[in-house]
Amino acid sequence: MKGIVLAGGSGSRLFPLTKITNKHLLPIYDRPMIYYPIQTLVDAGIRDIMIVTGGRNSGDFLRLLANGKEFGLKHINYTYQEGEGGIADALALAEHFADGQKICVVLGDNIIEGDVKSAVEQFRAQEKGAHILLKEVPDAERFGVAEVEGDRVVGIEEKPKRPKSTFAVTGIYMYDASVFQKIKTLVPSRRGELEITDVNNAYIREGTMTHSLLDGWWTDAGTFDSLLRAANLAAQSVARRQGEAGETASAVEGTVRA
Ligand code: G1P
Repeated sequence: MKGIVLAGGSGSRLFPLTKITNKHLLPIYDRPMIYYPIQTLVDAGIRDIMIVTGGRNSGDFLRLLANGKEFGLKHINYTYQEGEGGIADALALAEHFADGQKICVVLGDNIIEGDVKSAVEQFRAQEKGAHILLKEVPDAERFGVAEVEGDRVVGIEEKPKRPKSTFAVTGIYMYDASVFQKIKTLVPSRRGELEITDVNNAYIREGTMTHSLLDGWWTDAGTFDSLLRAANLAAQSVARRQGEAGETASAVEGTVRA
């Protein structure tokens, strides 16, 4: 499976922070935002990764990430999105990179506590179709919202005023190669973009969409509030890991002393 990180867009909800840089290069606690989705893919065992970016600061991604040595990668692929056609428009640029294989797509501002290893494994075994990860949230109207019947997602509404459930569709999507054909049939939404929700609904209509629930915390980081929340959550995770490492270190020291 190949991995794709979508890191384009104008980041207008974060103006003026994004006036002189790309949203995905802003800091989330101790790391640039784009590090998190890359790590999500690497942690899931995906090593063939493409970054889709755009705008005036796209060169900075190459300066920051180079060949991905910090993630244990040998190489990172990059492509450039002209204009702001939406998430599905950005994904269309990865067709030649995907080269007929299944893909795992992560939105560049989606940050998770845990990993998606088991969902990726489940999708590897799925013959065809797509897989999405849902997370229960208190503010579903900010996201794509899944309507769930029994164990099936029967529809997704993009930022509905009255959400039919509290299950947000997170920005981690797995698709088979038919995704690119599906994108070609889309028409722009009211906000003038090709919507990823329309892609997902095409899979739902086809009856090939599966889903799972994401473990651990999840947040986007595209607004001032969620950017702050992401930084606080990331900081807490680092503190917890350091605490655990400290405990292990003192336990080891204790054993040595004893
Ligand atoms: C996008 C998707 C939405 C999804 C969200 C996850 O929204 O359109 O369906 O729930 O990402 O972060 P955006 O934040 O780009 O408007």
